[in-house]
Amino acid sequence: MVLGLEERLQLMEEVKAECLKCEKCPLSLLRTQVVFGEGKIDTELMFVGEAPGADEDQQGRPFVGKAGQLLTRILKSVGIDRSQVYITNVVKCRPPGNRNPTPDEIGTCWPYLESQIAIIRPKIIVTLGSVSTKAILRTKEPITVLRGKWFEWVGGIKVFPMFHPSFLLRNLSKEKGSPRWLTWEDIKEVKRAWEELRR
Ligand code: URA
Ligand code: URA
Repeated sequence: MVLGLEERLQLMEEVKAECLKCEKCPLSLLRTQVVFGEGKIDTELMFVGEAPGADEDQQGRPFVGKAGQLLTRILKSVGIDRSQVYITNVVKCRPPGNRNPTPDEIGTCWPYLESQIAIIRPKIIVTLGSVSTKAILRTKEPITVLRGKWFEWVGGIKVFPMFHPSFLLRNLSKEKGSPRWLTWEDIKEVKRAWEELRR
């Protein structure tokens, strides 16, 4: 059944309302706010990070802290505005001290991401960093091997892993072959593929 945009917006609000009161895992006890995700529902392009950090937990929005500001700039550098895409995380509540979410937490939170993907029906999912890449592709391969490559996923969706912006905050070099240099190559590839879809 193909739903119209109004119905999809409505469905997303319903999933969000459920997620905002979620108590299915212990992270719910520690959060200030659930960070559900935001952006355009009717988009081909979705970005999936790891989990909220302190700033996101405070503001209830994904990628608004230092790493998020870098992500926003990376997108801008190829002419992508955040409002044109959908941005979320594999885990919707902040893990204490920014530790990686556990496999249990990822599994418990998974249905929310699954619903978001089903409603948005993106053509491209960019996974940001090791945790979301491994969770979505169900692989143990390191991000250094996976990034910058296209993977076929369920429903004909293409998955493109990139480094996490917080990794780039710790790696400032822009010389050829550095994580920042590779990310510049990667985001240009995402833009190219996205434009191709929209032609
Ligand atoms: N890091 C993430 O993975 N997601 C956010 O929303 C913020 C920082
Ligand atoms: N390690 C990570 O967890 N993420 C990256 O993006 C790079 C290295």
